[in-house]
Amino acid sequence: MVDAAKLQQVKDRTWFYEFDLPDGTRTATDIPADVLPIHTSRRDKLAWIIQNRVPDAQDLTAFDLASHEGYYSLELARHFKSVRGYEIRKSSRDAARLITDVIGAPNIDYVEADLQTMAFDPAQTADFVLLYGLIYHLENPVHTIRLASQMARKHILIETQVFPYDISGQLEDGHYKHMRPIEGVFGLAPDYAARREGGSTDIAVVPSLNALLFLLRNFGFSEVFVLPSGDDDYEQFRRGSHVVVYGGKP
Ligand SMILES: C[S@@+](CC[C@H](N)C(=O)[O-])C[C@H]1O[C@@H](n2cnc3c(N)ncnc32)[C@H](O)[C@@H]1O
Repeated sequence: MVDAAKLQQVKDRTWFYEFDLPDGTRTATDIPADVLPIHTSRRDKLAWIIQNRVPDAQDLTAFDLASHEGYYSLELARHFKSVRGYEIRKSSRDAARLITDVIGAPNIDYVEADLQTMAFDPAQTADFVLLYGLIYHLENPVHTIRLASQMARKHILIETQVFPYDISGQLEDGHYKHMRPIEGVFGLAPDYAARREGGSTDIAVVPSLNALLFLLRNFGFSEVFVLPSGDDDYEQFRRGSHVVVYGGKP
């Protein structure tokens, strides 16, 4: 039975996502109509990877890192036994709890975390870790990618904007005869900690795709690939400016 007062609170709020509500309506959002498909495209990619790589999901646990208003936590909760969302902003955690209550998903909880500074805790691991929309807002993305990789016992799914050029080559290491390979680059950009979708500082260091793939292999994932995009996919995925990358551990 849906709590009418809570449903009204949901209807009175402007959301980052269009949630389908129990009364057949959708939440109001301020995201432009031509950008909205990024959310459904990422949700479809998540569902595709679960279908194709996680057949036993109903017996497994999942984490949603940077869970925001809980849009992807709710999708995870449809497939996994239990879900935990990690999110730095209280207003977003409160909103996520409200919409989760109204939609009805008792197998999700939301906790506070700064994923850029949090230390790995072996008691906090899950079979599947989702890391959507965060690393291009961080000044220390390597910390968070390493942390997420440690938290993932088997599967990771990362979505991010990438630095547009895959640069490789050689880096001198004290003498011209000693070289190290360059496995990717990072682009420095301003970020916006004052906004609800921004990072926790005003600086972002954004990886190239080859940097991200190198890091995932380095952090223990033996199967790593970019999810394909169809002709009707959101334009950023078709151009490779945003990517969704799967990693699987042996
Ligand atoms: C662009 S939104 C992406 C939200 C959601 N994961 C998605 O893909 O739609 C970025 C989210 O990361 C959260 N966030 C930013 N910095 C964070 C940090 N250091 N630790 C945890 N969450 C953070 C923000 O509050 C926001 O909810």
